[in-house]
Amino acid sequence: IAEKAHLTAAAGMFHVPGLPDHGLPVWPVTDGPNGARGTSLLGTGDAVALCIPCGTALGATWDPELIERLGVALGEESATKSSKILLAPTVNLHRSPLAGRNFECFSEDPLLTGKAAAAYVRGVQSTGVVTTVKHFVGNESETERYTTDSRIDERTLRELYLLPFELTVTEGETLGIMTSYNRVNGEYLTNQPRLVEDVLRGEWGFEGLVMTDWFAAIDTVDGAGSGVDLEMPVGGPAFGKHLSKAVENGQVSEERLTVMADRVLTTLARAGAFEAEPTAERNLATESQRVLARDAAAAATVLLRNEPTDATEAPVLPLGDDVASIAVIGPNAGRAQIMGGGSAALRPQYRVTPLDALGARAAERGIAITHEVGVAIDRAAPPMSGSAIAGPAGDDGVIVPGSDLLLEVVAGLDPTGPAVASGSRDQTKLIFGDPPTTDDPEGYSARLSGSYLAPVTGTYTFEMVQVVHGRFSLGGEVVCDGFDLDLPRSGAFFGSGSTPIIGTKDLVAGERYDLLVEYRSPIREFSGVEVGVRVPVPEGGIDRACEAAAAADVAVVVVGTNDDWESEGWDRTSMDLPGDQDELIRRVAAANPRTVVVLNTGAPVHLPWRHDVAAVLQVHFGGQGMADALADVVFGDAEPGGRLPTTYPERVEHNPSFGTFPGTNGVLRYGEEVFAGYRWYDSRHLPVAYPFGHGLGYTTFEIGAPEVSAATVEAGVDLTVTATVTNTGDRAGSHVIQCYVAPADPTRPLPRPTKELKAFAKVFLEPGESTDVTLTLDNRAFAHWHEPDPAWAATVDAYRPSLRMFPVPKFDREPGWVVAGGDYGIVLGHSSADLAGSASVSVPETFRVSPGRA
Ligand code: BGC
Repeated sequence: IAEKAHLTAAAGMFHVPGLPDHGLPVWPVTDGPNGARGTSLLGTGDAVALCIPCGTALGATWDPELIERLGVALGEESATKSSKILLAPTVNLHRSPLAGRNFECFSEDPLLTGKAAAAYVRGVQSTGVVTTVKHFVGNESETERYTTDSRIDERTLRELYLLPFELTVTEGETLGIMTSYNRVNGEYLTNQPRLVEDVLRGEWGFEGLVMTDWFAAIDTVDGAGSGVDLEMPVGGPAFGKHLSKAVENGQVSEERLTVMADRVLTTLARAGAFEAEPTAERNLATESQRVLARDAAAAATVLLRNEPTDATEAPVLPLGDDVASIAVIGPNAGRAQIMGGGSAALRPQYRVTPLDALGARAAERGIAITHEVGVAIDRAAPPMSGSAIAGPAGDDGVIVPGSDLLLEVVAGLDPTGPAVASGSRDQTKLIFGDPPTTDDPEGYSARLSGSYLAPVTGTYTFEMVQVVHGRFSLGGEVVCDGFDLDLPRSGAFFGSGSTPIIGTKDLVAGERYDLLVEYRSPIREFSGVEVGVRVPVPEGGIDRACEAAAAADVAVVVVGTNDDWESEGWDRTSMDLPGDQDELIRRVAAANPRTVVVLNTGAPVHLPWRHDVAAVLQVHFGGQGMADALADVVFGDAEPGGRLPTTYPERVEHNPSFGTFPGTNGVLRYGEEVFAGYRWYDSRHLPVAYPFGHGLGYTTFEIGAPEVSAATVEAGVDLTVTATVTNTGDRAGSHVIQCYVAPADPTRPLPRPTKELKAFAKVFLEPGESTDVTLTLDNRAFAHWHEPDPAWAATVDAYRPSLRMFPVPKFDREPGWVVAGGDYGIVLGHSSADLAGSASVSVPETFRVSPGRA
């Protein structure tokens, strides 16, 4: 019993349990989802990882084949971190544009999400690494995330929020699932058998491992009955020794425990966990990874708008040979914002800023570049990183700009003592999950050293947040001292960080200052310190940006959010671009009509100026290849292959979750029910800034009339839809053919969205080339989830005698997938708003879809 129970609880912060005496070592797991970061927390360790585009960007590729290749790369990366389990992908839906973790998730549409995620899973698992698809289920917000109750009716759960999980089970064959923090309809996932045990395992036949999110297990007895097998991380209150006791007390049966332990064992066995030993983390960084990351970033880039200007008859992008100078403007131009915040954060193989990438490409072409920040957007001061920092001078006395800072760990609480261990860090942030290598009873200390190169002259503000006690010095002078301070807590470090200690210092542009962060931790739990900097923005930043724009042929304005605005742990409160970025864009566009706006966000923002600028590109948080891909796209070496995976509403107030998000009194009602995303905007004829599926590319496509394999939909028979697609432009390019099913009467027998995406395909064609695209629609493509209300049945039964004179409605007491009789349109589109041909099919008689079919 003890050994079986041991298998149900983690062995470390990022370690699953092992039984070394039985040949099963203790294996690490790694987050997920935009890379395999290893066991260090939030990318603050020594390990370096391939950073692929974020979930939204992957959704924007609409390309399962590409995503599968990225999955293979991630599986190989997981192996370099000696990990048998990758904590990914994230398949919750973009319900609200404001949700903090949207960037991790693929789309507002469950089919696109499910197909993309299933491809991701197939890729990763083909390398022998297990995926844990997360967070099951209803985790569409971060506010009060450990307690909020997602109230979702059954039909909405089935048609939308469960579907991506279902597809990763049936089409991806994932071996793992991770439960969510939130409650669903009143109960934590680990306290109710209905979703994991009954639906996931019972209905979909999932045989793999279900683990909790970190600290999400609540209860031993209920947990054991919920279908969940493994509590993460170590030290939780529910499984492991608690479960062993519950079995001995007779509260949980041994059979149940055996089933749980068996799933942990068999899943690890399938990952080859018995056949090898964990090794030290290493870094791969191959050329093929770099190419893949860069190509994927271009394939994810969405060209939202591309208009001619007075200076050019052709659309402004790609830039023509007439361009001799570019002003690169904006707060995200000089910043490599390649990923969002939270557990997805990692230490990438490299960071390139849009300014550097555009600058390098411009230099090759003899194009002059100027740069202005314009406005500041930082929420909290970001850590020092990139080319501004450098590690200590080498033996030859040379300081390498951009090299890593030196981390030294010291036994005891005097950070000036001799180092017992050392490592490197690429930013002024230290996080210790498992305590470092010292068992000194007093605790441990750390020092992080190197230098900081001031980019401008002025008064800099530094903000230090500490879990225990830190001190920050610059140029030999203490700037922030928290050694003797016990401060109130803030939201930083998952709630265990202090409020910031603020210090200022005058610095001179181009001068290098010695940098030292010291830290003392008497505690062995989660600990750390972060020092952020606010670089002074020159007075009149927008004026200066306008002058630069006016003096250049083209202005490229890189705007967006960052990993502090879009992060695990909290939701945004506004859909506006932070700071004065809207004003910056308006004024720059007035100064130069050839203004290209680059959006660097993981989720939709308001675009009130979009008609005033020549072009808008969305690069998302595009991973380590993002900036190079941006340069490829701007100069026409690659085409922007992405299409929006999520609607950009005109106003945040138009979005379907407005009024219910992020919840009231701990309850988050999914009040729009099945009308999420474009289903809502479409059905209500609401204006949107850019519709779901939209994206222009650099060539044009025609989609011919669809031919459907049959005029009627029969039970158990798939339909195929074929259409000829032609590249009508003069460049090679890609296009996404989207197939929507539209019930002729969306009000009967129940309210339905006017149309829903049911199939799609991406094609790559040479100029003038045509191809026939064939899409398959199974019965589920026409089905809705029928959920009878038991009270209704009881009422009808009770009153049936007295209702004799009146017609009693036919009542189907069985829940399930039903294809309702009637006519359905099959509509092909370039986007959900730009439709091509359509055909019509009919369902002669209502029928049930046989269970188990995806
Ligand atoms: C996140 C998970 C993540 C886990 C481990 C949690 O806070 O919600 O997505 O996998 O931490 O880092």
